[in-house]
Amino acid sequence: LMVDGSPNSGRPIPNTFLGAFFEEINHAGAGGLWAELVSNRGFEAGRGSGSPSSIYPWRVIGNESLISVSTDLTSCFERNKMALRMEVFCNGPKSCPPAGVGVSNPGYWGMNIEKGKKYKLVMYVKVKASGPVDLQVSLTGSVHRVNMASIISFSVMTDNNILKWIKLEGILESKATNHNSNLQITTTTRAILWLDQVSLMPLDTYKGHGFRMDLFKMVADLKPKFLRFPGGCFVEGYYLKNGFKWKNTIGAWEQRPGHYGDVWKYWTDDGFGFFEMLQVAEDLGALPIWVFNNGMSIGEEVNMSALSPFIQDALDGIEFAKGSPSSKWGSVRASMGHPEPFDFRFVAVGNENCFPHHEVHYQEKYFKFYDAIKRAYPEIRIISNCDGSKTPLNHPADLIDFHIYPNNSMDMFSKYSVFDKTSRSGPKVFVSEYAVVKDDARNGTLLAALAEAAFLIGLERNSDIVHMVCYAPLFINKNGRYSWIPDAIAFNSHESYGTPSYWVQQLFSESSGAIYLKSTLQTSSNSIVASAIGYRSSQDSKTYLRVKVVNFGSEIEKLRITINGLSSNVQQSRSTKTVLTSSNKMDENSFSQPNKVVPRKSALENASNNMVVSISPYSVTSFDLLV
Ligand code: AHR
Repeated sequence: LMVDGSPNSGRPIPNTFLGAFFEEINHAGAGGLWAELVSNRGFEAGRGSGSPSSIYPWRVIGNESLISVSTDLTSCFERNKMALRMEVFCNGPKSCPPAGVGVSNPGYWGMNIEKGKKYKLVMYVKVKASGPVDLQVSLTGSVHRVNMASIISFSVMTDNNILKWIKLEGILESKATNHNSNLQITTTTRAILWLDQVSLMPLDTYKGHGFRMDLFKMVADLKPKFLRFPGGCFVEGYYLKNGFKWKNTIGAWEQRPGHYGDVWKYWTDDGFGFFEMLQVAEDLGALPIWVFNNGMSIGEEVNMSALSPFIQDALDGIEFAKGSPSSKWGSVRASMGHPEPFDFRFVAVGNENCFPHHEVHYQEKYFKFYDAIKRAYPEIRIISNCDGSKTPLNHPADLIDFHIYPNNSMDMFSKYSVFDKTSRSGPKVFVSEYAVVKDDARNGTLLAALAEAAFLIGLERNSDIVHMVCYAPLFINKNGRYSWIPDAIAFNSHESYGTPSYWVQQLFSESSGAIYLKSTLQTSSNSIVASAIGYRSSQDSKTYLRVKVVNFGSEIEKLRITINGLSSNVQQSRSTKTVLTSSNKMDENSFSQPNKVVPRKSALENASNNMVVSISPYSVTSFDLLV
């Protein structure tokens, strides 16, 4: 491999090159990055299952002779009227069990409660009783009635026979660790009680913003320069009524109606709403990229005559994100604690709506959004769903969305050159979803990741036209019903690990804003691809030359790497080699073996301007040479 390291021969890779794509899929947000521990906190989730009275996963504590539990539409929250009604028949220690009767919530397949940590409880209660009603809120382990934390006790009175909702708050401090805990709300008083909007949040979240620490860190470690959100098909819905309506996801969390994501088939209370997604992007140091619903879903679309509200929604959403705090929607953002506009520069008009059967209607609608947005916000960069990689687009766009999910790794490997012939005069390319799926990808194999690494090397090579790239999907809660595999980050209530595809992305995290260097690969093997970049390390502020080599074959490859044109020689000290490989190309990571396929870094003893290296079978290697 001959690399031209002369200072002026390279070209900059866009600063926005590598990003992340957050979609509410596989419980990525609800039961994932969003740290809320109570599942179905407003008792509304039944609206999604078609049985409004379903309170799943809440469970009743006490038998039918002691307590009767149902739902009714008496909540104080106008947009989510469902409340839990508990009629308690027992009274006092003689007829109630010692720990009382009530309900418990297991969270999203078990709450992760850790010793010494604090959890904030908020809940709304209404009571009908002849005297004060005692309420105990506690945390139990998997075995009921074994308390793990301080208990909060409330005494609630009916006020002059007027039924009134009151807000109760408290802090639970855990005395033990249990990854499979429950929140329990019990009483020993005969009464009728209503509960609604019961929330339990760890105090320990990223900057107190509600993001689960370990999952936030895993994304941050990818150094994403942008965050695309909130989907994916989640934006569209199968039916339009189930698409993502950003205005329903902002403001006080208690008042958000929540919605059923009918593509990935679960309820979300939208605690992780539009504001929180903008906030997580900011916290990651990533530019937000909002994919908005353009009046098209997977199964239906609005007529052109009914498009105006969708256009207004998009304009209002942009104002919410970047408008002045005195503007209509900017003031709502300010009231949520973010008076400063977000650094908001990109929108995508819909998701995957320019498929052939939709194409004409998509473009008709696209023009309307494009005109309205460019008129109000000429600086906003607009992303079209139509593929301009082979033939030029017939409409204006700043970027085009490109999605690619080959069914096997060889196919992805061969996509290394997919943008070589793309017109350089049209819009830039945003590869906003890519991954190998199915056959040999399974839950995320080494082989699939290597093919993706080769594809990314091809994107780096074409980064004069390909300005952005992110893998999909980002997250999976392994306890949930699988919506989509493979994914980059797998987790349960308390653990997380990266799939090999995640680790490949880390190997490319220095590429954003780096200098792409010319290199020529001379080899008889058709299993090798390579690239070279120059970058300044954020760790030691020194300049490195990074050569990445993918070996997609079963043989060791010997490669001579020659670097010409450097003003100084490669220094052996601090030069390293990082290899991602495993003993079997189909190896995956798992909770029991999270580090089976992870990059291993070692000193590069023979680092020099002219060195011979061995490239392991089925591997990607990053040589980081201090220059
Ligand atoms: O990444 C999973 C899904 O794949 C996305 O929701 C959709 O855009 C694509 O079809």
